[in-house]
Amino acid sequence: MREVRVTVPALAKLKRAGRKIAMLTAYDYPFARILDEAGIDVLLVGDSLGTCVQGRETTLPVLLDEIVYHCGMVSRAARRALVVGDMPFGSYHRSLEAARDSACQLVKEGGAHSVKLEGGERMADRIEAIVRLDIPVMGHVGLTPQSVHRMGGYRVQGRGPCSREQVFRDARAVQEAGAFSVVLEGVPAELGTEITQELRIPTIGIGAGPNCDGQVLVMHDLLGLGEDPPPRFARQYLSLSEVVGRAVRMYAEDVRESKFPADHESY
Ligand code: KIV
Repeated sequence: MREVRVTVPALAKLKRAGRKIAMLTAYDYPFARILDEAGIDVLLVGDSLGTCVQGRETTLPVLLDEIVYHCGMVSRAARRALVVGDMPFGSYHRSLEAARDSACQLVKEGGAHSVKLEGGERMADRIEAIVRLDIPVMGHVGLTPQSVHRMGGYRVQGRGPCSREQVFRDARAVQEAGAFSVVLEGVPAELGTEITQELRIPTIGIGAGPNCDGQVLVMHDLLGLGEDPPPRFARQYLSLSEVVGRAVRMYAEDVRESKFPADHESY
């Protein structure tokens, strides 16, 4: 039997009921299927595609067409989870029209149920414009990786009083612009708690402490698929790189020793 889809109103209901939302990134069909069947509520086709899958230094070079392509794979796999397509750098910055066109492409060609974009006060008009098309928008404030050069690196935001007030203003602006949810990234746990208590929409934390309405991690950090150790805020549940490496070494050895294929693996 088909699972009931997690929807935007269902996420609001989870917040009201005090039930946590589990979100992960996904980039392709097989992993999205596994995550969906394991009960993840929200699958984000993140622009972390750039660093996790494409081997890039930052997320900045990721193209909208690339997110659309990966979003198609994830949305075809997701039977239950809400699929969020991430809007990459440059796909919503230049104009409201560009923002609307990019969001439409993610929904129409990528099969996304909603989109996510980075920025608070400065991007409120973009959020409003997309929401008016009936495309649900997830905001993203605090440490916004697309602003890496302005921030001078991937630094925790909201530590000093001014920066704290700015993150608060950004989160409020995202809500007022009509977003259905907001990612809080790289902010002190106390600030994550206060914003979560004040906002009506669900907050999804990543490095924002335990009291957000939900949590998101990059799938590669959780599964141990990255080249580097996961960041402090992530929890690695598995060393998949090691597991895969072991299997591949066994296969290579079998080939070299003529142990593969066996009779039952041949025609
Ligand atoms: O691109 C991404 O994976 C993200 C998450 C870290 C929230 O934006």
